[in-house]
Amino acid sequence: MRDYGPSTFGKLNAEHYDTFYPADAATLESVDLLAELAGGGSVLELAIGTGRVALPLAARGLSVSGIEASEEMIARLTAKPGGEAIRVVLGDMADVDIDGEFDLVFLVFNTLFNLTRQDDQVRCFQNVARRLTPHGVFVIEAFVPDIAHFVDHHRVRTVGVTFGSAHLEASVHDPVTQVITYQYITLNQAGVRLTPLPMRYAWPCEIDLMARLAGLRLQERWGGWDRSAFTAASSKHVSVYGWPD
Ligand SMILES: C[S@@+](CC[C@H](N)C(=O)[O-])C[C@H]1O[C@@H](n2cnc3c(N)ncnc32)[C@H](O)[C@@H]1O
Repeated sequence: MRDYGPSTFGKLNAEHYDTFYPADAATLESVDLLAELAGGGSVLELAIGTGRVALPLAARGLSVSGIEASEEMIARLTAKPGGEAIRVVLGDMADVDIDGEFDLVFLVFNTLFNLTRQDDQVRCFQNVARRLTPHGVFVIEAFVPDIAHFVDHHRVRTVGVTFGSAHLEASVHDPVTQVITYQYITLNQAGVRLTPLPMRYAWPCEIDLMARLAGLRLQERWGGWDRSAFTAASSKHVSVYGWPD
């Protein structure tokens, strides 16, 4: 999708992000596990956004830093109580450097897939490995792709209809690059609003290979933040990577 770069998500979504994605019970479950994995050490969140996860984590006394590509998302984070204590570096998580070493680095909410080329995803793992302490872990939360949703490589889904509006999703799937080009379409009396989001999905086993290319190994994989078993029926995974013994 031309004209869509690392900072586009925030330009399009920062204003309403916290309304759509509040720090709810599911978020706090992720915070519990991440805090345990941090073991009191230093923490880095890639694509930290408005702090949905980072702020409750920092409220537990952990030192949290972030990388984020959108100035709009960072502005919302730093305006919140506790936000000023979080150091955020503006840039692309595939490449940008940040001072320090971290015991826990994490990238949640499927955001690895916001990097829309395999090469960017591979470089992201390498960027993390450069800053991971010898006992540090890198945690990824991502959906398990289900390409059965697509017929003839495309899909249109009605998300909701009211008296004055219709909300649709339109997606095109490229099985060669594993890129899904997606539009969230809002139709109402004011007109049409388009919220594009290109994504490059990766199967769990491909993500494991990206980790290997960076020298890391899969240590744990769960079907959710509750540490449930990861099975063929799992729609998402929480995966923990670390250095080999
Ligand atoms: C779905 S939001 C997740 C935000 C936060 N991690 C959370 O869980 O609420 C995706 C975030 O990734 C950021 N982002 C997208 N591409 C990025 C990139 N290449 N480098 C850094 N941040 C990026 C967006 O600006 C946005 O804040």
